[in-house]
Amino acid sequence: MRIAVVGAAGMVGSRVVNEAVGRGHDLIAVFRKEPTAAPPPGVLAVGGDANDPGHMGRLFAGTDAIVAATRPAPGHEDTAVRTTTALLTAAATARTRILVVGGAAPLRNPGHPDRLVLDSPEYVPERFRAIAAASAAQLDACRTHPADWVYLSPPALLEPGLRTGRYRRGTTTLLTTADGASRVSAEDLAVAVLDELENPGGEKHFTIGY
Ligand SMILES: NC(=O)c1ccc[n+]([C@@H]2O[C@H](COP(=O)([O-])OP(=O)(O)OC[C@H]3O[C@@H](n4cnc5c(N)ncnc54)[C@H](OP(=O)(O)O)[C@@H]3O)[C@@H](O)[C@H]2O)c1
Repeated sequence: MRIAVVGAAGMVGSRVVNEAVGRGHDLIAVFRKEPTAAPPPGVLAVGGDANDPGHMGRLFAGTDAIVAATRPAPGHEDTAVRTTTALLTAAATARTRILVVGGAAPLRNPGHPDRLVLDSPEYVPERFRAIAAASAAQLDACRTHPADWVYLSPPALLEPGLRTGRYRRGTTTLLTTADGASRVSAEDLAVAVLDELENPGGEKHFTIGY
């Protein structure tokens, strides 16, 4: 597959690029700034701002899938919807499906199914409230957009770690382990992204976790 990854320098985007290259896919890595480290051999590195749907649409022409892995800088969370909408529009123009790596916030709380993770301080401490609200609004933007999208909600904790190649897949409720933890490594999230692109599960909104 020819896959474009936007946010390729980020925690998630860089791991999606590595996972996709390891599986033999043809990669376009979209960087907003000049990358500090060279992308893996064979990856086409291009510059571009996700908020420019015309430029993104041209970059996406001829791709089979797009991965949106952008995240607004702290204090600019209100830009998440605009950026996601621009990428959805560019994907629709290119007639390519797009996987949006979003947040855990729009998932249901497993202990209180009437409550979103967004409104669950045990999963979203106050300091993460703004980015959590932005990710819930991001999913709402997807739901009203005609693009061929799928939204992946990570578990509550997503951080660099080991690639085990193992994870569980769920739909719209946060996944937790027996001890109540909700986590996955960014490396295993990248495995799930590529699994979904290679074998779509069919849900518009899904989650993963250990
Ligand atoms: N538990 C959770 O729910 C959870 C936890 C972590 C992350 N996430 C989600 O996962 C996704 C990826 O997050 P991350 O941690 O990988 O973020 P990150 O490490 O901050 O990387 C985000 C990347 O997006 C790029 N970017 C931002 N705006 C852009 C734009 N307009 N045009 C082009 N590139 C742009 C940034 O580029 P620059 O380098 O130029 O700034 C950066 O490289 C986000 O949706 C985030 O909310 C969810």
